[in-house]
Amino acid sequence: MEKFVISGGLNLSGKIRIKGAKNSILPILAGSLLTSERVEIKDVPDISDVKVMLKILECLGVRISWKEDLLILEPGSLYTSEIPETLMCEMRSSIFLMGPLLGRLGKVKVSYPGGCDIGPRPIDLHLKGLASMGVKILEENGCVQAEAKTLRGSDIHLDFPSVGATENIMMAAIYAEGSTLIHNAAKEPEIIDLQNFLNKMGAKIKGAGTDTIKIEGVKSLNDVNYTLIPDRIVAGTLVIAAAITRGELILENVIPEHLEAVTAKLQEAGVEIWEEQDTLHVRGGNIKAIQSVRTLPYPGFPTDMQAQTMSLLTLAKGNSTIIENVFDGRFSQVGELKKMGARISVQGRSAIIQGVDQLKGAVVNAPDLRAGAALVLAGLSAQGQTIIKEIHHIDRGYEKFEEILQQLGANIKRVGAQDENF
Ligand code: UD1
Repeated sequence: MEKFVISGGLNLSGKIRIKGAKNSILPILAGSLLTSERVEIKDVPDISDVKVMLKILECLGVRISWKEDLLILEPGSLYTSEIPETLMCEMRSSIFLMGPLLGRLGKVKVSYPGGCDIGPRPIDLHLKGLASMGVKILEENGCVQAEAKTLRGSDIHLDFPSVGATENIMMAAIYAEGSTLIHNAAKEPEIIDLQNFLNKMGAKIKGAGTDTIKIEGVKSLNDVNYTLIPDRIVAGTLVIAAAITRGELILENVIPEHLEAVTAKLQEAGVEIWEEQDTLHVRGGNIKAIQSVRTLPYPGFPTDMQAQTMSLLTLAKGNSTIIENVFDGRFSQVGELKKMGARISVQGRSAIIQGVDQLKGAVVNAPDLRAGAALVLAGLSAQGQTIIKEIHHIDRGYEKFEEILQQLGANIKRVGAQDENF
């Protein structure tokens, strides 16, 4: 049980390069199962979600080597279509392994992600889409077994543009007979990345990034060498690190277009942000309240930036409102921010944040990945010492977060459970 210990109050400055996106590499690793040939992926982030996904692939029979940022996978012929329950529980997004395993082996057995102690995670849209392609699904004792001798192309309307369901269905459709249309598909940049990766292997997918995706079935996929898009959420988190510490950062390897909803809102809050090709410059100053931040599917404001934005707005002059429209109950950071002196009240999907002059250091728990990052940001600006526990959540999505922040001038260290001073 490691912790972060932060002495707040220092302005961050410097330059950092953003690595490949977590939400691209996870479905792309699943998509690698669709070929038996060699897959090379560059700019892979060294985060714990990737390590868990690689453990799952190893259990299925994939040979893996990972040196520096280059990951090499040799899927060959897979041993099994059953994903071990413990690994499924560690990795909530592993549900999108169903599509590729159905495509490759015609069957799959996974434990239901809602059965883990991470809270319910509906997968109805995934299962409805697969069922309409001819997949027989049996849900029993917390497990989902799915089988299809032949997958049939289908016309699928998603009730909500779910990122995972769009990706799962796209991958199941690769080897289906005929073509599949996904209507009301999610439009996130990571879906375009998955399309580009699969097409580079020989798939025939069009329309990712729009709300209709068309997949024409093919017979096989080839080897591939692919570079991931940069992680827009890590970039967005560092933009707020600059803003909240009144610092000045240069972020390299960014696709500014992917961050437009975030940069527009932060500019409204008085953060200076300007772009130069694939580089973003950020300068923090006085923070202004924002009338409303509403999370929405892409290209709307990302739910994965909601908690970090809340940390910033705790220090704004005036009252701000955040409305969380994508996930139920995604305000787990609120109680912890209040321990640091923030003034926030939550009513259903809305949070009203009354700005204060200064946050104070406190002992807090990282409740999940993005809420954990939000607490680090709050700790960077707070007066005195902040101790953040349960940082394994943060390690799921931020590679060596404390080292990056140290490099930019922050006073943050990782301490082990054995360190009795903390
Ligand atoms: C992905 C991202 C996650 C991000 C989320 C929303 C990955 C690995 N993770 O998660 O970081 O926060 O998109 O941008 O890419 N839903 C259903 N039924 C379903 C599927 C989803 O009701 O079958 C609901 C969910 O409960 C949630 C909403 O749809 O309320 C969005 O979920 P979804 O887009 O599927 O998120 P993930 O793919 O899990």
